Amino acid sequence: MPEPLCSQKSPYQIKLINGKYFWCACGESKAQPFCDGSHKVKREFTPLPFELPEAKTVWLCACKRTSNPPFCDGTHKKL
Ligand code: FES
Repeated sequence: MPEPLCSQKSPYQIKLINGKYFWCACGESKAQPFCDGSHKVKREFTPLPFELPEAKTVWLCACKRTSNPPFCDGTHKKL
């Protein structure tokens, strides 16, 4: 099984407005932590859609190894 690219070893803390987003699962996007279509090179990965019903600050996984995507679960500390 191919490994996703680790875009950085700490989560992206971002304040988002309510809406639908696509979290990059492959790590190749230049628009981290969101998908920019780069996963088409590594076809094993697809972006993860998620929706926020209200504006809030979130910590989105950047190492791409979280067990709770798209959110950070601290896995980056073990890399
Ligand atoms: S660019 Fe990484 S999942 Fe789309």
